[in-house]
Amino acid sequence: MIKLSGITPSGEVHLGNYLGAIRRWALHSGPDDLYFVSNMHAMTVKHSPERLRHLTDHQLAVLLAAGVPQEQLFVQADLIREHMTLTWLLECTCTFGEARRMIQFKEKSQGSASVRLGLLTYPVLMAADILLHGTAQVPVGEDQRQHVELARTLARRFNTDYGEVFVVPEAVLPEAGARVRDLTDPSRKMSKSSSEANGIVYVLDPPDVVRRKFQRAVTDSRNEVRYAPEDQPGVANLLDILAACQDTTPERAAESVGSYRELKEAVAEAVLATITPVRERAIHLLESRTELSHIRRQGAERARTRSERRLSEAIALAGLA
Ligand code: TRP
Repeated sequence: MIKLSGITPSGEVHLGNYLGAIRRWALHSGPDDLYFVSNMHAMTVKHSPERLRHLTDHQLAVLLAAGVPQEQLFVQADLIREHMTLTWLLECTCTFGEARRMIQFKEKSQGSASVRLGLLTYPVLMAADILLHGTAQVPVGEDQRQHVELARTLARRFNTDYGEVFVVPEAVLPEAGARVRDLTDPSRKMSKSSSEANGIVYVLDPPDVVRRKFQRAVTDSRNEVRYAPEDQPGVANLLDILAACQDTTPERAAESVGSYRELKEAVAEAVLATITPVRERAIHLLESRTELSHIRRQGAERARTRSERRLSEAIALAGLA
């Protein structure tokens, strides 16, 4: 049974991405699971080609460095013809009403006519990602559930109207990972789109930068180390991160430190122990471009081989061959 997860290269990989999802992909992936860098999804708003190229390699390198098996990993646009062919078949299966109803589209477009058409059709591209690879389960957060529902609807409709070809996918809850919050504003998730870089720890940040960011993390004036997310959100965030790195509970992590200064030092060192091997492998991969492009090519070839029969069948069933 195939489970598929995608990560969109809209920013550099940070601690929230790593502790919240990527680490689990590496540790708990089933032998048939698939992971991909959804770079075609990163251009639904005006984008820089240079930066997109850089971020795609960056994310691929971090996933590999984190231990996501390379046989299960590919870059979406390395199969751009396949994904676009299926997107067209599915766009002609999807109604305008269905696309327009997507909450994320409504939120991001807010009725503006200057919004890119890609923002409207992107859930159909996402359906193509899911259906092309024969996905049975898609672990997604709340914000993507409706898109998986759409993929399900389109798979059923295509199967009924033209012939059985697609596995009907379902959305599943991702295994709970750590929820990492912004170090300068613990009311917000640590997010690629945040403007305050000091609140975000990137996996490729050098050790002194990581230490400085934790030193400056927002706490409170109580100087009492205990796990109370409501009353002491900044301290709780640091304890959550420490616990995630030490594989323990935040309550137990709280017992091991006496002051905020000790807490900040402990969490910085625990984070460094966790991410330094990943950072070093990723930097090495990014420096030896030939290895990275070789891995990319092999990943694309495998993904193509796995999916080509399904795509040919769908093309034939639609009457195009
Ligand atoms: N849209 C997802 C996100 O923004 C990423 C994604 C693209 C994805 N295609 C997918 C996730 C297919 C799961 C399956 O997070």
